[in-house]
Amino acid sequence: MFNPTRSPVRKSVIAGNWKMYKTQTEAAEFLQGFLPLLEETPGDREVVLCVPFTDLEILSRSLHGSSVRLGAQNVHWEPAGAYTGEISAPMLTELAVRYVIIGHSERRQYFGETDETVNKRIRATQSAGLVPILCVGETKQQRDRGETESLICQQIEAGLIGVDQGNLVIAYEPIWAIGTGDTCECNEANRVIGLIRSRLNNPNVPIQYGGSVKPDNIDEIMSQPEIDGALVGGASLQPESFARIVNYQAI
Ligand code: PGA
Repeated sequence: MFNPTRSPVRKSVIAGNWKMYKTQTEAAEFLQGFLPLLEETPGDREVVLCVPFTDLEILSRSLHGSSVRLGAQNVHWEPAGAYTGEISAPMLTELAVRYVIIGHSERRQYFGETDETVNKRIRATQSAGLVPILCVGETKQQRDRGETESLICQQIEAGLIGVDQGNLVIAYEPIWAIGTGDTCECNEANRVIGLIRSRLNNPNVPIQYGGSVKPDNIDEIMSQPEIDGALVGGASLQPESFARIVNYQAI
């Protein structure tokens, strides 16, 4: 249904984040179940699958000619070099990858990601013609201490130094809502996303919500005027549940 309060210019982006799940065989099985469920999907939304590096090639081949876009979950900031275990942006573009998740809270928490390395990765991503999905969000403790706003503004400001905001997606993912089933109240997510938008110099950057997005809350989430999409972890692993999310109907 047409939502009169959402800017018609901002694209809705629904992205699955598979994290470290699915072998190539499992990825191919997923697509067999998923693609037929997209036949009625409205064209006003971009559907993205952000998958492990090892799944990119098979999905790249299988998604050729489909409207589903391919995404990665990280990228190094140098185009090539002696960085054992890393993957560069040109390696991704050759596989028809279009989006890259950058600064997910799991990378910040477990792999030493900082606002500075996030910024370097975003700029390398854009230089290669890819679209970064910058993740920001606060912990439960930071929220309880009243630090949500200042923390988010800091992550946005430091992450976006020298970044082209015409080629960018942001995901607001409160860390306490990720993988917990404890979704952020829709109006609170809408408020924080409005705050993020007020810090940007391009009003058309799509801003997603992420954190326990499910088939039974996506319609309400997408009915919020500031929320332009979703970054979906656990519920993107099953074809039926992710298809229901992609086929959301704003109330
Ligand atoms: P979740 O994960 O949907 O399983 O909460 C979201 C994310 O980490 O991007």
